[in-house]
Amino acid sequence: MTDKATLTIGSEEYELDVFTGSENETCVDIQKLRAQSGIITMDQGFGNTGSCFSSITYVDGAKGILRYRGYPIEELAEKATFVETAYLILYGELPTEKQLLSFRQQIAEHAPIHTNLEHHFSGFPKSSPPMAILSAMLNLVSCFHPEVLDVHSEGPEFDRTAALLLSKVRTISAFSYRMAAGKPFNHPNPNLTYCGNFLHMMFSEPYQEYAASPVIERALKLFLVLHADHEQNCSTSTVRVVGSSRANLFSSVAAGVCALWGPLHGGANAAVIRMLSDIKTSGKSINFYLDKAKEKNSDYKLMGFGHRVYKNFDPRSIILKKRVYEVLDELKKDDPLLEIAIELEEKTLKDDYFKERNLYPNVDFYSGILLRAIGIPLDMYTVMFAIGRMPGWISNWRELLEHNQRISRPRQIYTGKNERKFVPLDER
Ligand code: COA
Repeated sequence: MTDKATLTIGSEEYELDVFTGSENETCVDIQKLRAQSGIITMDQGFGNTGSCFSSITYVDGAKGILRYRGYPIEELAEKATFVETAYLILYGELPTEKQLLSFRQQIAEHAPIHTNLEHHFSGFPKSSPPMAILSAMLNLVSCFHPEVLDVHSEGPEFDRTAALLLSKVRTISAFSYRMAAGKPFNHPNPNLTYCGNFLHMMFSEPYQEYAASPVIERALKLFLVLHADHEQNCSTSTVRVVGSSRANLFSSVAAGVCALWGPLHGGANAAVIRMLSDIKTSGKSINFYLDKAKEKNSDYKLMGFGHRVYKNFDPRSIILKKRVYEVLDELKKDDPLLEIAIELEEKTLKDDYFKERNLYPNVDFYSGILLRAIGIPLDMYTVMFAIGRMPGWISNWRELLEHNQRISRPRQIYTGKNERKFVPLDER
């Protein structure tokens, strides 16, 4: 339903369209405002700007709701595999048995990577950050599959490209770890599940095949399902911005990987573990770190706390916290960092600074502890996030093209020098 809003600036009135989404979220459409008035709107960091209409994921930050294609995250986390979730996000419906089988087959078929692409790994120094390798390699994949460069591919071609990407991201990630560890690559095994195959490619050794315990496979599946999409976050918006120039899917998601890398976004999962380890080894109290995070002029933040959208709780962190206990219990493991995490959470929940600013644990707060229990090395944590987020990136890229969305091109308010005359070198 379209409604109208009136904006008054000085003596002028402007009529603007108002749109309502399927969950009754409302927006004022300012697209014509500049043409009508010469005035732009300012929203640094896009904290209150809708950049698209989307039917993929719904988040209500005040109520702590997250749904993929209408299905609550709590139900998907419990009942769906990652491949089913990816299908749902990509195609809008849960797959039938036949559809799931064919999707799985396509993923299995695309798991190996071209031998020439494999050789590129040896060009990276062993110390290369896996996120740099992942971004570079995703761009490179398109050189080996030129057909994926067609941004208008539809039907079976698009299905093939999506399955190829979901599969290659997993192989490339595991190979980047093997390369850095100086270990031979483990080629994918089509008889394993998506998660089982990843664990095999990461951890099998020439002398011993890795046998993933069901507990570990389930924990990894949960991690991936919880990360599969999160509407217009920084990396997904990056994918959309890059894709809006009609750049191909592979370069768009490679850019998404770069955006995810930062510690304020996907890099937070590793930063949380570094922070908890720091608290453990420093001998300083938790209050010391709380005070540091509260200091007005410090840019120190408690990693894993706060969210642009969730102002009550992040439903993913609730699910993860519960699962972390179960996994450690089932594996008969202890993690001293979990105790520190619990104490830190308890203290922040009682602290006025955090309460007033609605800062709660986010998805990254407990996900690192889960990844530690699975045995994933710290510098691979954000890569794991990227594998999980791939269905969301692909779907958002595709939706952008389906909606034939305009190229992303924000405006600015110029605050620099006014026009001045060029000063010759000898007079400066
Ligand atoms: N520790 C301490 N203070 C924090 C904080 C944190 N983790 N997160 C936000 N704040 C403070 C801000 O400095 C700001 O303080 P002010 O009002 O005194 O200026 C206030 O809380 C509100 O911040 P907000 O507008 O909610 O943050 P944002 O939307 O710009 O940024 C994040 C959101 C997620 C980037 C931010 O909370 C953060 O950096 N968190 C830590 C990194 C992290 O966990 N990222 C993963 C996100 S899933």
